[in-house]
Amino acid sequence: MKFSSVALAGAAMGLAHATLTERADITDADILNYALTLEHLEAAFYQEGLKNYTHADFQKAGMQDPFYANLKETASDEQQHVQFLTKALKAAGAKPVEACTYAFPATDVNTFLALGNILEGVGVSAYLGAAASIMDKTYLTAAGSILTTEARHSAYLRASLGEAPAAQAFDNPLDFNEVYTLASMFIASCPDSNGKLPVKAFPALTMPSMAPATTGSKVELMAASGMSTNAKDVYAAFITVTGPVWASLESTGDGKFEVTIPEGVAGQSYVVLTKGNKQASDDNILAGPAIIEVGEPNGPMGVGSQCSGRGSSSMPSMSAWSSMAMPMPTASMSMALGSMPSISASASASSTPVFNGASGKNISGFGAIFGFLAAVAAFLQ
Ligand SMILES: *[C@@H]1O[C@H](CO)[C@@H](O)[C@H](O)[C@H]1NC(C)=O
Repeated sequence: MKFSSVALAGAAMGLAHATLTERADITDADILNYALTLEHLEAAFYQEGLKNYTHADFQKAGMQDPFYANLKETASDEQQHVQFLTKALKAAGAKPVEACTYAFPATDVNTFLALGNILEGVGVSAYLGAAASIMDKTYLTAAGSILTTEARHSAYLRASLGEAPAAQAFDNPLDFNEVYTLASMFIASCPDSNGKLPVKAFPALTMPSMAPATTGSKVELMAASGMSTNAKDVYAAFITVTGPVWASLESTGDGKFEVTIPEGVAGQSYVVLTKGNKQASDDNILAGPAIIEVGEPNGPMGVGSQCSGRGSSSMPSMSAWSSMAMPMPTASMSMALGSMPSISASASASSTPVFNGASGKNISGFGAIFGFLAAVAAFLQ
């Protein structure tokens, strides 16, 4: 493909302009505090998990040594990230945010690991998406050094749970608001003294069903009430580093949609609903992102592969979902790198609603949390 130099210059100018616009409303201190917000969340998540579940619990769930030792190392890494960013902000004369109160929908080792796996993936996407907005090169290197470590955590957890450690050649960047949309599902409240970061959450987009996702398969999505249900001109875009990958979308009414997984997305993928299909940016995102784990239909790590230990026969019934039990057979958790991972796509319960009411839970986006977990559960089926 040939580009004229005029077109190239135009594109370069467009890029420069985009950067300047972004710089106008978010400072390096904001970005560090945004990163610290995520690190606090991750650190608290692992701290809670290590308090809730013992070494023996992890072994019983099939996670053989040295998994537990590596998990403790991961928890320690997140705590060190918190300390590092806190120091860096203080050194720069800025006020570091403090930890919030969190509400993680983890009830056992399996749900804990499934959620941890997703959080690590979001962490990678968050640092990647923020990189271009960081002005100071020292911060950029520091953030890069955290990013690579988060990527190792992510790859290790993915492999431990039977997913491809690196499902594609390029990871997906998420912008500030997209990440905040996902993170805010787990934040119950924050100290007033934290102030407000210049970020906002879009209406949540969740997966109410458990259909395994592969290229060409259809996945049901449900938009939170915040999204205008009579929105016209709605499209679905998967966020990738080279820009949106548009996916076929069908509205089925009541804020529900069916999206067809397009070619060109794999692993932990993010889909947003947009108004119009020219771009997928903060200006036109209507809801999301939703997280969809996309596996290769027949690859060695794909959702369609049928190997021992992960067959559908050992799958608990999907109704377990509505009581928040992650339907993961323990045998599946013991897969080490190198052993044959097996993830069965044959468990069919795609019509079981994941969220059947969480009355009494006063957490905004609580339903979204279930959908959030459902994304990985679907893959782990
Ligand atoms: C730990 O246990 C508490 C109490 O049951 C629960 O509220 C919390 O969500 C759990 N956290 C994790 C990460 O498992």
